[in-house]
Amino acid sequence: MENPILTVSELNLYYGKKHALFDISMEFEEKKITALIGPSGSGKSTLLRSINRMQDLIPSVTITGSIMYKGKNIYSPNTDTIDLRKEIGMVFQQPNPFPFSIYENVVYGLRLKGEKDKAVLDAAVEKSLKDAAIWEETKDKLHQSALGLSGGQQQRVCIARALAVNPDIILLDEPTSALDPISSGKIEQTLLELKDRYTIIIVTHNLAQASRISDRTAFFMDGKLVEYEKTKSIFLNPKEQDTEDYITGKFG
Ligand SMILES: Nc1ncnc2c1ncn2[C@@H]1O[C@H](COP(=O)(O)OP(=O)(O)OP(=O)(O)O)[C@@H](O)[C@H]1O
Ligand SMILES: [Mg+2]
Repeated sequence: MENPILTVSELNLYYGKKHALFDISMEFEEKKITALIGPSGSGKSTLLRSINRMQDLIPSVTITGSIMYKGKNIYSPNTDTIDLRKEIGMVFQQPNPFPFSIYENVVYGLRLKGEKDKAVLDAAVEKSLKDAAIWEETKDKLHQSALGLSGGQQQRVCIARALAVNPDIILLDEPTSALDPISSGKIEQTLLELKDRYTIIIVTHNLAQASRISDRTAFFMDGKLVEYEKTKSIFLNPKEQDTEDYITGKFG
């Protein structure tokens, strides 16, 4: 791989005694879209959440191995997880806007950083909402509650909120599974436009979506990385029987 931004090496993760990820080693390419696919319970969300150390919030979790990002192991004890999560942002399955205005949702991370300059905040709101393809729909009601938007619009505001702190990497866990096809399509289009500037890692159960938008696809089963290739080769010419069975709908 030419430009890996993240290198996962022999990552194992346990929830208490339950072994959930087995010796995962893989690289993620910078400014590309990588899709994580696989049956329910295969460890996709667990791996995704390990990348910005969200799993640390669960007391029973133990992790071995490493994830190198910008030359440092994010699991080294001196990593500041708050800083890490500014560089590696996350968007969840259910749109989760805060019960504030659209404007305050987008500037949330900047306010946490201590930004007070109204001109800076206004510019960030406009830029982030434009990047998330939701500016036209919201520009006249920035000070209304984000909860008044449709699910698809809320999800794009959540993407704008993640973008506002200018992350390097955006993690998305089934970001369109709660949305109608038109809203999903808009989000797919947005992600394709963002990938020139951001590295995107997306978990999806929608195989057509993975094949439409991702550059590489990783197939997981039972906590193991079964196959990881360019997306075309996973979908047109899988090497492993399990991958073929999954993408042709035999299970999952
Ligand atoms: N907080 C937790 N405590 C204990 N076990 C967990 C926890 N979260 C996940 N697991 C277990 O770890 C395994 C992997 O779960 P994970 O949520 O990563 O799967 P997934 O591939 O994202 O599935 P889905 O497609 O259903 O979202 C499963 O067996 C699951 O039951
Ligand atoms: Mg999941």
